[in-house]
Amino acid sequence: MKTTISVIKADVGSVAGHYKPHSEMLNYARKKLADAEGTGLIYSGYVTHCGDDIVLVMTHGRGENDPEVHLLAWTTFREITEKVAKKYKLYGAGQDLLSDAFSGNVRGLGPGVAELEFNERGSDPVIVFAADKTEPGAWNIPLYRIFASPDNTAGLVIDPKLHEGFRFDVLDLIESQSVLIKTPEEVYDLIALIGTPGRYAISKIFRASDNEPAAAASTSRLSLIAGRYVGKDDPVMIVRAQAGFPAVGEVISAFAVPPIVSGWMRGSHRGPLMPVSFRKGQNVVSFFDGPPRVTAMGWQISNGRLVGVDGIEPADLFEDPFWDHVRQKAAEIAVYLRSMGEFEPARLGHEEMEYTTLPLILEKLKPRFRPVKEGVREEKVAK
Ligand code: 13P
Ligand code: 13P
Ligand code: MG
Ligand code: MG
Repeated sequence: MKTTISVIKADVGSVAGHYKPHSEMLNYARKKLADAEGTGLIYSGYVTHCGDDIVLVMTHGRGENDPEVHLLAWTTFREITEKVAKKYKLYGAGQDLLSDAFSGNVRGLGPGVAELEFNERGSDPVIVFAADKTEPGAWNIPLYRIFASPDNTAGLVIDPKLHEGFRFDVLDLIESQSVLIKTPEEVYDLIALIGTPGRYAISKIFRASDNEPAAAASTSRLSLIAGRYVGKDDPVMIVRAQAGFPAVGEVISAFAVPPIVSGWMRGSHRGPLMPVSFRKGQNVVSFFDGPPRVTAMGWQISNGRLVGVDGIEPADLFEDPFWDHVRQKAAEIAVYLRSMGEFEPARLGHEEMEYTTLPLILEKLKPRFRPVKEGVREEKVAK
């Protein structure tokens, strides 16, 4: 039996700036998904948030890019915007809904989408990650560690099912093209691309031995769609685990040394990606609207449905006190980076700042610039 997991997220407004959605928004979405479960459109639906982003996790039998499932997500976000976010004048109401032109798919309209269709195994553990105050390229280091680094994933070395490696579908976000890279043979090529996370992001991963889908990540960049800064594209990702895939412990190990990611404060800064517990209410941001954070939800997929630790409630994979140590480290890195103020690399590089409000400031200085003759300048420097 083929099951599809669709994770669709959007920031359609939040309380206290970019902090957290209003509970009425989440309850509204829960009702929409429950109704869709009632009609049989989806098998199960779970609603949560990571920081100010609302995340819909749905399972169904309709395949990826299904117009009905996408319409369900789209109307849910539209209605939440109109009926709750605007009513309470929440911050950034409808922020991620860039266009009204829905024609069967939410891709390109603002919301982030990660989808994976697969034949259910005898037992199918799945992890859904959601991050806030960052961008799709934030998954590059973790996905590299999980599926290509033998230092992270023991199974790549000692499990014959993983030994043949994986294929990475890498998206060029600027040129809108993609390339399949096979590891371990082409691991240096992979790093050559994904080492530039603002441009190259991994959208899918397949097991090399049989092309079985292993992971999917959202890759939308709102600023590239809109041509200006409209909030960051806080990403989501689905990873399958165990029995021929990396173990759950190997998957979450990839977050033990926090990568520095882009998208913090005004979408213009770099900060450490802090793994947090959603059960303990750590999935909200504060310090300088951050630091960027990530939650991990663990489920079993059973006959098309999400099975968690208590009904549909997922396992909270960063709840273990072990992660307190990582959070402490991330906080130290965050304060350290902030000590640099508005200097690169704490602030994003020039190219990425093009999509923020900085060009408006620089524009003012333009008339004051005077040409400098190369020779004259060199002379002055030599003296
Ligand atoms: P599998 O049963 O998925 O092969 O996992 C083995 C294991 O020990 C996980 O840590
Ligand atoms: P969001 O992209 O999460 O809305 O945050 C915008 C921001 O950068 C706040 O500082
Ligand atoms: Mg926001
Ligand atoms: Mg956000």
